[in-house]
Amino acid sequence: MTEIRVNGLRGVELAVFNLKETADFYAQAWGLSEVASANGTAYMRAAGNEHHVLSLHEAPRAGLIAINFSAPSRIAVDGLHAKAKAMGCEIVSGPTELGAIAGGGYGFSVKTPEGQTLNISADVVQHGAGNFHDHSRPTKLSHAVLNVADVDKQRNFFIDVLGFRLTDSTARMDFVRCSSYHHSIALARAQGAGLNHMAYEVENFDGLMRGAGRMKKHGFKIGWGVGRHGPGNNLFSYFIEPNGFVTEYTAEVDYIDEAKHIVGTPDYWAKIMNGPDRFGLADPSPELRDAMAGKILDERNKACEEIISKKLASA
Ligand SMILES: [Fe+2]
Repeated sequence: MTEIRVNGLRGVELAVFNLKETADFYAQAWGLSEVASANGTAYMRAAGNEHHVLSLHEAPRAGLIAINFSAPSRIAVDGLHAKAKAMGCEIVSGPTELGAIAGGGYGFSVKTPEGQTLNISADVVQHGAGNFHDHSRPTKLSHAVLNVADVDKQRNFFIDVLGFRLTDSTARMDFVRCSSYHHSIALARAQGAGLNHMAYEVENFDGLMRGAGRMKKHGFKIGWGVGRHGPGNNLFSYFIEPNGFVTEYTAEVDYIDEAKHIVGTPDYWAKIMNGPDRFGLADPSPELRDAMAGKILDERNKACEEIISKKLASA
């Protein structure tokens, strides 16, 4: 019998200021590869099976457009849509066949209580395995962290509507999973809604260091890391990409044994951790903190809007 729940994270969709510059960054510095492009949108794949893990849409204002998840079947897509509707969630679009350029499939879109759009789909075209042999290139989107004003409300939405489970909770974040992977989404306590960061998994520590080295060669400083997180026990290195979004390489993410797992509480994690990473080496830079809070993106959007309004006034 099909389980009526989300069972994986596919990717993120971002609005970006300059499509070519951003697509070049993700291909050359970050290690993704363009799989398709049309009408101001580029679809970037990782080395794993997923058709694409990142969609870039050129727009005057940069920001998070959507997060894409998988469901196990079309029946599950219909079931999740019916459940979301019955529970009073805002449906953006009902179940439909999806465009071939983005890998096709069947899906619907729903908004979280704080207005972030989630696309949930089944039957999207997958790539064959073993396309790349470079450990520094991401294999998949590991997780996305959302800034949210009301963590309880958002967490309950992911759990009650989409079938996620709570893995860990700290003073700053709740981590929720949709498979045995430690977390696909984390919800960060913040002033308002936004994308805190996205994380791409590389195969191992060597890949993470090589990826960080490639970024350094392209002129990007590590904003936080290399370190190891508490919840998830994953290695990390964080960067600010050209639009102002925060992007992370991660490796060695924990898998959860459903029979044995005990949810880590904020008190538990406060005792376990002695600083912001397990190694005790890495603090996020002030710039990275600002980028995670959405401040850099806000400043660039504001600057962009001022340029546009000046151009319109002088036209
Ligand atoms: Fe992360």
